[in-house]
Amino acid sequence: MPDDSAFKPAVGSVADAALTGLLQERKTLPAKLFYDEAGCRLFGRITELPEYYLTRTERALLAAVAPRVATAVRGPAVLVEYGASDEAKAEVLLGTNIFNAYVPIDVAAPQLEQMRARLRQDRPELLVCLVPADFMDVAALPTEVPQLPRLGFFPGSTIGNLDPPEARRFLQRARQALGRDSWFLVGVDLRKDPAILLPAYHDAQGVTAAFNRNLLVRLNREAAANFDIGAFAHQALWNDTASRIEMHLVSLADQQVRLAGHVIRFSRGETIHTENSYKYDAERFAALAEDAGWHCAELWTDPARLFSLHLLEPRQGP
Ligand code: AVI
Repeated sequence: MPDDSAFKPAVGSVADAALTGLLQERKTLPAKLFYDEAGCRLFGRITELPEYYLTRTERALLAAVAPRVATAVRGPAVLVEYGASDEAKAEVLLGTNIFNAYVPIDVAAPQLEQMRARLRQDRPELLVCLVPADFMDVAALPTEVPQLPRLGFFPGSTIGNLDPPEARRFLQRARQALGRDSWFLVGVDLRKDPAILLPAYHDAQGVTAAFNRNLLVRLNREAAANFDIGAFAHQALWNDTASRIEMHLVSLADQQVRLAGHVIRFSRGETIHTENSYKYDAERFAALAEDAGWHCAELWTDPARLFSLHLLEPRQGP
């Protein structure tokens, strides 16, 4: 999303994906629906908001630790980015000059092609192997990827948008795809004071609110729905037990909405749960990674301990 478009579903599945969640007792919508064109634009604005510390903190941390990552991995190696809609973050790692090949994985095939064209200009010596796929599904890399050590890269704390069992499955699959001679650099937002977390998901300019409500705009356009957008309010809350920010859309009235031939009833105050963003203690994330077959070799955080980069290596033994 911007690792964003990584969650873009196949055309035609929008109404099905929405109905599955909206017909449940506790209504939900899948976070992957956020990232249509308008959603990607809004997410881009979120990453620049003063309250949204994640992107700028990770960017500075990555720039600081890239030489240490290069020392650990040693070259020549292959960089495999999960959910790569542009090469901005990968560029920081490519700048260490230890990589012969770059393998961006993303469902947005046109963006991948544009990325390859740019990299051909800027780094003509770099082999670029595109993998147009949902990063959750990649269990093997294409055969043309050179047999060199691999550094997997999953920035942005996108892993926080997966429920922990899903995150474990993803890490296991990446372990299988990257192979024995590999490393995995994962960006993880840290658990912290809700006074810092909540404004990051409920900003003063209302950009996150527009991002959340854009789901309904999209369903009106793509799933034959008739949501009254102004009749739903953005809500962000901290669930301390689950250690996650939850985003919801709150119905401001008793109302009913049509979607793909179904009628969905809302009572006033009822919510649609639209996203989870899990926040980890560094130890808790390391334990999850261990469970998935990785060992945390290095952990880097910014001075305020807002964000972390975990450098994982395959776990030895049972
Ligand atoms: C993409 N992902 C890491 C963002 C996050 O912080 O969970 C998505 C987001 N949702 C609201 N603001 C940003």
